Amino acid sequence: MNAGITWGPTDVVISWNRPTPVVTDCLAQQTAAGPPGEHPVRQTRAMPFPAAGRPADEVLSELDHIASADVDWKGGRVFSLAYFADDETYRVARAANDRFLSTNALNVAAFPSLRRMQSEVVSTVAGWLNAGDGAAGFMTTGGTESLLMAVKAARERGREMGIDEPEMVLPVSAHAAFEKGAHYFGVRSVRAPVGDDFRADPEAMAAAVTDRTVLVVGSAPQYPQGVIDPITDIAAIAAERDINCHVDACMGGVTLPYLRRLGEEVPPFDFAVPGVTSMSVDLHKYGYTAKGASVIIHRDAERRRHQTFVTDNWTGGTYGSSGVLGTKSGGPIASAWAVMQHLGDDGYLRLTRTARDATLRLRGLLERIDGLRVLGATPVTLVAFTFDDIDPFAVADVVGADGWYCDRQGPPASLHCTVHAGHVDTVEPFAEAAAAAAAVVRERGGQGTDGAYATVD
Ligand SMILES: Cc1ncc(COP(=O)(O)O)c(C=O)c1O
Repeated sequence: MNAGITWGPTDVVISWNRPTPVVTDCLAQQTAAGPPGEHPVRQTRAMPFPAAGRPADEVLSELDHIASADVDWKGGRVFSLAYFADDETYRVARAANDRFLSTNALNVAAFPSLRRMQSEVVSTVAGWLNAGDGAAGFMTTGGTESLLMAVKAARERGREMGIDEPEMVLPVSAHAAFEKGAHYFGVRSVRAPVGDDFRADPEAMAAAVTDRTVLVVGSAPQYPQGVIDPITDIAAIAAERDINCHVDACMGGVTLPYLRRLGEEVPPFDFAVPGVTSMSVDLHKYGYTAKGASVIIHRDAERRRHQTFVTDNWTGGTYGSSGVLGTKSGGPIASAWAVMQHLGDDGYLRLTRTARDATLRLRGLLERIDGLRVLGATPVTLVAFTFDDIDPFAVADVVGADGWYCDRQGPPASLHCTVHAGHVDTVEPFAEAAAAAAAVVRERGGQGTDGAYATVD
C-alpha cells in the first residue's frame, strides 16, 4: 500500500515515484508520512529582517525579483495550477480582492457586504447546477475545503443515523482532498476501481457499500483524465440507502453548464439527478476569480447544517463557522462577486467556448504525435496523455527546460494539461514542443523526474 509515496530530497516532498496501481485504504495511508528521521533535514531560509523598515516601492520591487523564477502562468505556458482569462478580468479580480483584503468573513454581521456577496455568488452557482429553491451553500477557500466539508457533513449525518464507524465509497480517480477529509474526520476511505475509460464503475462502487457507508462520490469531471463519472448511477446507490452523494464539480461546475448551453452533449451531473445531495464548484479555476474561492451547495438547508460547527464551550461566547477556517479574508468573496459581474453570462459562454476549442485543438495536435496516447475519451477541458515507448516524465523534463509546465501524474504515469481560455494562442507551440521533445527522448532514451503534487516541508 502506498509504495508510490516517497520522501524527496529537496523542496517538494511528496512525489509519486513510478506509482503502482493501488486501491488505497485511507486508514492505512494515515501513516504514509514516513518514519521520523526520514525527513531531509533542511535549513529554513532566514529572511533578512531589516532593523529599520524599508520603503514600500523598494520592497515591492524586490517581490518582483523574488517572483522572477516562477513559471509564466499568465503567458499560457503553464497547463496547471493557475487560470487566466484576460488582463481586464484579472484587473477586476485583483482590485476587488485588494479592497476586501482585510475584511473578515468569520463574522458577516460586521461585514454585511460579505454576507450579501457570498449569498449572491452561491445563488448564481446554484442556478448553474439546477439546485432547487431549498438549496443552501457557502463559499469556501477552495476545492479542498469544499470536499472536506462534504466529508464532514456526511459523517455528521451518518452519526445521526447511528453510524459510528463511517466509510465513504469513491472511485480511485476522485481527488486526493477526499483522502484528506477521510483522514481529518475519521472516515474510512474505500476506493473502487474505474473502468478502462477511467470513469467510475458504479457496480464496483455498489459492491463496496456497506451499512457503514455515509457517502458516495462522483466527479464531473475527475482530475486525472478529465472524464465525467456516471453520476446518475452513482447517485442511485446513495438514494437507495438515503445516504449522501457528493458530486465534485470543482473542475467542471462552471464549464459544464456553459458547454451544455453551447450545444454540447453533457451527461447528467448536477442536482437534476435524484440522489445528488451536495456539489462543489471552484470559482478560482474556471470562474477566473482570485485564488481562495469555491462554493459548496447542499440540496437543502438541513443537510447544510451538518457542515457547520458551533460551540459555546469556552469563555468567549458562541462561536460558529461554516468551514475549516476561523478568520478568513473577504477578498476572494469580493473577487468572485466582481469577476462574475464583470464577465456576466455572455463572458462565461465566451470563455468556455475558447477554453473548450483550445482543449480540442490541443488534443487533436497531440494525437498526431508518434507514440503518444491520449487517456480518457471525453475530457472536458483537461487532456492527459502518455507515450507507449518512452518515459512521459522525460518528455516533461525536456519541454520544462523551455518554460512549459504540465503536471506529471499516475498511475498510469502520464502528463496532464489543464487548458483554460488563456491558452488560446499557446496550444500549437506547446504541441510542437511536445513532439520535438518526444523525438529527443526517443533518440537518447532515459527516465524523467517523477511527478510532484505538493509541498509539505
Ligand atoms: C476535481 C478536483 N477536485 C478538487 C480539487 C481541489 O481543489 P483545490 O486545489 O482548489 O483545493 C481539484 C484541484 O485541481 C480538482 O481538480
